[in-house]
Amino acid sequence: MNILMITSEAVPFAKSGGLADMVSALSIALKEEGQDVRILMPLYDTVSRKNLSFIADFQIDMVNRREQAALYRSETENSGIPVYFLESEKYFNRKGIYGPTPASSYPDNAHRYSLLSAAFPVVCKLLDWIPHILHSHDWPTGLVPLYLKKAGRPFDRTATVFTIHNMGYQGTYDKRDLPWTGLSAEETHDFNMMKDGYLNYLKTGIENHTRITTVSPTYSQEIRTLAYGHGLDQSLNHRASSLTGILNGVDYSSWNPETDRYLAPDYYSVFDLDGKKQCKTRLQMKMRLDEKAEVPLFAMITRLVSQKGIEELCRPGYGILEEFCREQNVQVVILGTGEAWVEEELKKLSTRLPNLSVKITYNEQLSHLIEGGADFFIMPSHYEPCGLNQLYSLKYGTIPIVRKTGGLADSVLDPSEPGGWKKGTGFVYEEADPRQLREVLDRAVECWEEQPDKIRLLRHNGMNCDFSWKPSALAYMQVYEEALGDL
Ligand code: ADP
Ligand code: GLC
Repeated sequence: MNILMITSEAVPFAKSGGLADMVSALSIALKEEGQDVRILMPLYDTVSRKNLSFIADFQIDMVNRREQAALYRSETENSGIPVYFLESEKYFNRKGIYGPTPASSYPDNAHRYSLLSAAFPVVCKLLDWIPHILHSHDWPTGLVPLYLKKAGRPFDRTATVFTIHNMGYQGTYDKRDLPWTGLSAEETHDFNMMKDGYLNYLKTGIENHTRITTVSPTYSQEIRTLAYGHGLDQSLNHRASSLTGILNGVDYSSWNPETDRYLAPDYYSVFDLDGKKQCKTRLQMKMRLDEKAEVPLFAMITRLVSQKGIEELCRPGYGILEEFCREQNVQVVILGTGEAWVEEELKKLSTRLPNLSVKITYNEQLSHLIEGGADFFIMPSHYEPCGLNQLYSLKYGTIPIVRKTGGLADSVLDPSEPGGWKKGTGFVYEEADPRQLREVLDRAVECWEEQPDKIRLLRHNGMNCDFSWKPSALAYMQVYEEALGDL
């Protein structure tokens, strides 16, 4: 099958979160199954120009105007997936992906991402390569099926698959933005593009792709409810027979403590955890914490936004982080960027608490050392479509502590569940509530202090889990077949 991924992010070129990891890793896994997979994404200013080759200048017909663009080509590291970059001086030659800072948006995102979605017909013709499947990801590419309808032949045997990575970001725009999409007011009705008087790119994607997937089975159920549907539960229920939940995998060529270049020379495995001890000391040194092996080290690597349960952690007068750090003999490391109030609050707390160390930055290398060096990884998410760090943590013997939601519920097993300590891989709690978060953290500390054999068990069970991409790639291939069958 010829499969074109259309995406706003893909590692190693541009990443704001797990979407970027998922697109590249799934593409590689599909290639290993013999598929011809290619990626189309914007050429942001921050994408390295190294190894980029120019293909052509061209124009994109937006019905009421033509936009000047250019196409460049590169490949993913080692795996040789062709990545095509859409250059537009006007729309993409900027430092940020969605906005100048992680928590902000450019005012013309409706235009920028409709251009990306509208580009594929001319790109494919330039490449003389017609996809069987257009696989779009999240709101930026929600309009792809509409441009497919306009493209006509030779795309009349092309099906569309839409993966929802996060219902919390929908791409909602004023009707005044409509002319920029090249679509008409009639089309907004025909294609169900509106929600509460606004153009809604995510809704458009849900209503119009041949098939829809999301990134875990539990999330595929949750988003059909009022509590998790972010106002689009009705659309999802309407498309329920075309919706599948497929858990993301892990790219173990990047995330494996036996080979992780950022851990060198302190590699380790389930059979020999010495390297993990060294990683912990290195992490403590790097984060200016006391180098004490016996103190449990808790970590988070995350976008600092409400989705991630940040309020239960550190909202003044509500969050439990300060008390936890004062009352327990623990260390806490947090790496993240996001909303300004959270960044400020965490910095403030870390000046008061000698056992809390915070880095407000995006740092790939440090994120690997944290996975290697920490004992526990905290994910108190309000919702979590899949979540990647709990999967990385399992592999790194860093026991996940997660709220029971979405992909976290599908990948971490509490020892109180059937299977007990023999099967348990982490600590799981139910409600997005600060007291419950504190209780589960205390449970972990108690286990660390009083039942080290149980900690060893959880670690071993986690490290023995296999979340490789192959089964998920096969599930996507099944969805592609179904989508083609629906044409
Ligand atoms: P989401 O996509 O919702 O942010 P995921 O758990 O799926 O959540 O993926 C987050 C990814 O981004 C992980 O690979 C994580 O390690 C990475 N990440 C998030 N924040 C940072 C940061 N500040 N520095 C380095 N990596 C980060
Ligand atoms: C989203 C979700 C996250 C998921 C990632 C990759 O950003 O928030 O849970 O792991 O996409 O699918």
